[in-house]
Amino acid sequence: MRVLSGIQPSGSLHLGNYFGMMQKMIAYQRQEELFCFIANYHAQTSLSDGKVLARGTLEAAANFLALGLDPEKSVFWVQSDVPEVQELTWLLSNFTPMGLLERCHSYKDKVAQGIKPNHGLFAYPVLMTADILLYQSETVPVGKDQKQHLEVARDIAIKFNNEYGDIFTIPEPDIDDNVATIPGLDGRKMSKSYGNTIDLFLDDKPLRKQVMRIVTAPIAVEEPKDPDACNVYKIYRLFLNKEEDEALRARYAAGGLGFGEVKQELFEKIRDTFAPYTERRKELLADPDEIRRILAAGAERARAFAWKTLRKVRKKTGLVY
Ligand code: TYM
Repeated sequence: MRVLSGIQPSGSLHLGNYFGMMQKMIAYQRQEELFCFIANYHAQTSLSDGKVLARGTLEAAANFLALGLDPEKSVFWVQSDVPEVQELTWLLSNFTPMGLLERCHSYKDKVAQGIKPNHGLFAYPVLMTADILLYQSETVPVGKDQKQHLEVARDIAIKFNNEYGDIFTIPEPDIDDNVATIPGLDGRKMSKSYGNTIDLFLDDKPLRKQVMRIVTAPIAVEEPKDPDACNVYKIYRLFLNKEEDEALRARYAAGGLGFGEVKQELFEKIRDTFAPYTERRKELLADPDEIRRILAAGAERARAFAWKTLRKVRKKTGLVY
């Protein structure tokens, strides 16, 4: 099975990204054909500082590598190192009804937040479609916030295939219910744009500060509590196996559990879980040329796959004369 997904290199990495997508991608490399990339063109829709983007791209690569992505067992590259994806975006644009993009929630949300829309933001899902179709991806692991974009990708692929024959594989989204939307500090979806994230790879002090900011209800320590209504629990459970989860639920139900205490435990859990990866990430970032070498080798492999598709599409659409 060919699995593909990408992540924007926009600043810090949070638990939503990790549990929603990365953990699963890294597990897939053992038995599936894995395509994993850093979506730096997409990041340009919200980031105009070139230096910040360039640095963020290296960091995003280091994040994935530190967390265990093996560039030998996967194709791992930076989106813009295979610029052919832009040509496919153009070709797909001609099969993208305006209404399809106008309906996209993430576009509408950004406009509602007061962001002045430009064409890049509007066409974002078409570029994402090109990412997916260029590599003939069968399944795309994402969080629920990307589900509609996957539907757009399917619609465009079907429309294109109807015109030109079976060129593209129709991709399926791969979304697990229990990690579809990781909640943030305030219970809304964890997202950088809401400022409610818990970030990976932080030093102890800022990490503890984030965890302590999780919003909890004003319930006295001695009262029993409902774990399913508690933001601390909703994040904590991601780190627990079945027995540990049951034990924590029992402590909530029994009363006597203080939110300060459980937040402290959660902080330690996050710190201990990611400490080895934080070290590895530091080592990787100390040698950026090695990261660049890994990415260049990945781009070369990705490009060969990309051309297989693009050659066909160019021919079908009359660009080969
Ligand atoms: P991005 O960079 O915003 O997020 C990367 C991945 O993390 C998931 N995610 C979450 N999952 C669960 N709960 C959350 N709170 C949460 N926050 C983020 C996202 O759903 C995503 O899977 N457009 C994409 C990048 C992209 C892409 C692609 C993905 C570009 N081309 C092609 C798949 C296929 C994005 O901005 O993800």
